[in-house]
Amino acid sequence: MPRPLTRREEEHVGLGAVAVVGGGTMGVGIAYVFARAGHDVTVVEPVEQQRRTLVSTFDGALAGALERAKMTRAEAEAMRDRLALVPSTDDLPHGAALAIETVPEQVALKREVLREMEGAEPVVLATNTSAIPIGLLADSLDDPSRFLGMHFFNPVWSLPLVELIHGEATSAATIDLARASVDRLGKESILVADVPGFATSRLDMAAALEAIRMLEDGVASAADIDRAAVLAYRHPVGPLRLSDIVGLDVRLDIARSLEASHGPRFAPPRLLVDKVAAGELGQKVGRGFHDWPDPASTPDASGQDRARDRAHDREA
Ligand SMILES: NC(=O)c1ccc[n+]([C@@H]2O[C@H](COP(=O)([O-])OP(=O)(O)OC[C@H]3O[C@@H](n4cnc5c(N)ncnc54)[C@H](O)[C@@H]3O)[C@@H](O)[C@H]2O)c1
Repeated sequence: MPRPLTRREEEHVGLGAVAVVGGGTMGVGIAYVFARAGHDVTVVEPVEQQRRTLVSTFDGALAGALERAKMTRAEAEAMRDRLALVPSTDDLPHGAALAIETVPEQVALKREVLREMEGAEPVVLATNTSAIPIGLLADSLDDPSRFLGMHFFNPVWSLPLVELIHGEATSAATIDLARASVDRLGKESILVADVPGFATSRLDMAAALEAIRMLEDGVASAADIDRAAVLAYRHPVGPLRLSDIVGLDVRLDIARSLEASHGPRFAPPRLLVDKVAAGELGQKVGRGFHDWPDPASTPDASGQDRARDRAHDREA
């Protein structure tokens, strides 16, 4: 039975500032859902072009929500006012209720960024890693009791799950705060032990890597492998199309990290390595296992991956 939160903790979860470090695919979605829930959100993103993309994606999501009458214009304007973008962790708000790291899936980078974030003394410090063990990141911190994994899914505004990963040192109070924060977003959480790949990435990567190997072996076309998953098993989107949406570079990083922990069954197939080397990173660049003719509009700014969105249409 989780212990009740103190009033101060409740206030922090309910009203406190949220910091998101890394303004890419996940950063924008996480910023959106917290701004939607009424939090002031500061996003740290060092790359200027990426900051511009974030703003247009965020605005696109707002426009989509307005179009579908999911919010009023006044609410959309208030949400936009709650978003701040800064270039460096030096500009993080001090003592935020929650700070979430969403930089690329690389251990050394995440450790460095998390240390910088800890300097701003958030009440709860979280990583959105897909597969890196929390313990590996926690041992770079002065106070790992405040640290946990909060694994959101893409597109964040549509998918209802947040996987909470407790490290060995994570305190019960930190888990309670994170769970309460997820509840406030109207999402659901599961609590998972600190094993590489957690529950979700391990399942998802097993399917994705097998689908890529099937494509290499000439079993069927990319489109037909995806159709098999969708039409035979009612997956909302096939594993190759989903890989394009996630980003093949992200998939490759996760495969390498799972290979290191679980062995060769998670080794990245040659085709995945080659596609990343050729810059065919999926939806965000217009080409991956599939062609994405209009990458500027198709990335999932307003839940525009319709097949997936329809299946998970819980967006606020
Ligand atoms: N893409 C997905 O579907 C997905 C789903 C769940 C979890 N994740 C995880 O979320 C994390 C981010 O993934 P993504 O797809 O958003 O990556 P992304 O490459 O789209 O975005 C990462 C952003 O971090 C920024 N960045 C790099 N160094 C930084 C630093 N020192 N300080 C601040 N920002 C910095 C980059 O400029 C980039 O904009 C990864 O750990 C990934 O495994 C991704």
